[in-house]
Amino acid sequence: MTRDDRKVSSPRVVNIADLRLLAKKRLPKAVFDYVDGGADDEVTLRENLRAFEEVTFRPRNAIFVRGCEMRTKVLGCEMAMPLVLAPCGFSRIFHPSGEVGAARAAGNAGLGFTLTTMSGHPLEDVANASSGPLWYQLYLAGGREAAEAAIERAHKAGFTVLVITIDTGTFGMRERDVRNGAGVLLGRDTFAKLRFLPELLAHPSWLAGFLRDGSTLTLPNIIEPGRGPLPLSEAQDRLARSVVTWEDLKWIRKIWPGPIVVKGVLVADDARRSLDEGAAGVIVSNHGGRQLDGVGAALRALPEVVKAVGARAEVLMDGGVRRGSDIAKAICLGARAVLIGRAYAYGLGAAGEAGVSRAIEILRADLQRTLALLGCESIEELNRSYVDVPTSWPA
Ligand SMILES: Cc1cc2nc3c(=O)[nH]c(=O)nc-3n(C[C@H](O)[C@H](O)[C@H](O)COP(=O)(O)O)c2cc1C
Repeated sequence: MTRDDRKVSSPRVVNIADLRLLAKKRLPKAVFDYVDGGADDEVTLRENLRAFEEVTFRPRNAIFVRGCEMRTKVLGCEMAMPLVLAPCGFSRIFHPSGEVGAARAAGNAGLGFTLTTMSGHPLEDVANASSGPLWYQLYLAGGREAAEAAIERAHKAGFTVLVITIDTGTFGMRERDVRNGAGVLLGRDTFAKLRFLPELLAHPSWLAGFLRDGSTLTLPNIIEPGRGPLPLSEAQDRLARSVVTWEDLKWIRKIWPGPIVVKGVLVADDARRSLDEGAAGVIVSNHGGRQLDGVGAALRALPEVVKAVGARAEVLMDGGVRRGSDIAKAICLGARAVLIGRAYAYGLGAAGEAGVSRAIEILRADLQRTLALLGCESIEELNRSYVDVPTSWPA
């Protein structure tokens, strides 16, 4: 057992909330708030969590459950359970192992990992580290040519599913980041960064890792023609000017040979449009409450999208998943699988790869226990009859 394994072992870490507290301790405030925070008043961020509390179980008791089969297939990929790690921009800032460590942890657990375009590690390094299914999430931050080059690299490296995020037409107003001066911390002006010195020195473990890593704070999967990797300091501005439209889906569809999943679908219309443009699946997501505040909880939007999609494609969801029972609830409401963002990002911030593995293990054990307590021997048995939703939810 390594030092990091011990740091996140039971009883110190029993649930995801414990990992969050450890991450809060290890990370400088600006970095922790970047992970933890949401847009504007963070109403949607809270709603994502509250929606799971509002859905209640209807178990079948007096059943001897011999074992719980959690294996499933998602978009052609075999998974140990219906869980995929969501794209999280520049995870390398939480811990030097960043996307490489997270992908390795996911692969070791037999789960899929989604690499963001905004990765701090080259996609080839992430692919080499992973033994599980790999998905690549596309932004057009570097323009079409840079995206085409990244798509080609991703295909060559073994990524099998392309995730296209459509809810980033401009950047959400993350007030914590503005107040903390996150842009300055990630920028090029070393002198301006001096004001962070006391805060950084108060987090020696993070600082030592950051300095040892020697990261150049660039995005090695966004290579613009005639230029090197895009500096992280320019990323936010570029993202804000690079909305992915339905028109873009047409050319992307032509050059990507595998399944495409559209992420950021919240209404039936967008779900149908995604399928009309050739998507094999959609992810019901409000970006973890980081984009348009005031949008309803992702879980609440799930039934509408499931109904619109029917048997034509697979529906996934993310936003607010912190427990294995949350995964079960989403499956009961029609999701094929769920994605987690912060749940593993807290683990990465707390203890690198060991923290991600611990987050996954917590959710795996939770889900298994939930299935047993519901009286189900397999994830396939879950359906709408195992949950009640509030009458105030759309029918
Ligand atoms: C720190 C952080 C960075 C993120 N970066 C991206 C990104 O680069 N691309 C993307 O499509 N979604 C991004 N997201 C959104 C996640 O993929 C996912 O939709 C969201 O985290 C789900 O909510 P949860 O954190 O409550 O699980 C990010 C989320 C977080 C927390």
